[in-house]
Amino acid sequence: MTISDRELIELAKKALQNAYAPYSKFKVGAAVLTKNGKVYTGCNVENSSYGLTMCAERVAVFKAVSEGEREFTKIAIVSSAGKKTFPCGACRQVLYEFADNMEIILEEDGEIYKTSLKDLFPEGFRLKEDSQ
Ligand code: THU
Repeated sequence: MTISDRELIELAKKALQNAYAPYSKFKVGAAVLTKNGKVYTGCNVENSSYGLTMCAERVAVFKAVSEGEREFTKIAIVSSAGKKTFPCGACRQVLYEFADNMEIILEEDGEIYKTSLKDLFPEGFRLKEDSQ
């Protein structure tokens, strides 16, 4: 049974509730779907040493990879801005490492918007062909 894009967005919203963003006040939630249908979520975690802040997308992917996952099909991203929130450049490179054709699911005004990592990040850096 596969999860719908709407359900993935709702899981990202749930993760956003845990965002630690006292400096920017900009909360982000992400939910990444593995090839086998499992979901890992993440939120942004800021730090008083600002550069140490970690984005929601990378928290979700790193949680998943640390549990042995390598293959991802989709990621839903939401933010407290309530508008489409695209992944930052660093997160695009991290997503590219594991899924250069990943679908990216966003939301604005309650409507789902879909794009792909291929469109957002067509020529990412890669050391080897097979990153599995
Ligand atoms: N942020 C994310 O979590 N994901 C992104 O792709 C862009 C930015 C976070 C980092 C920081 O906590 C806040 O949003 C403002 O930049």
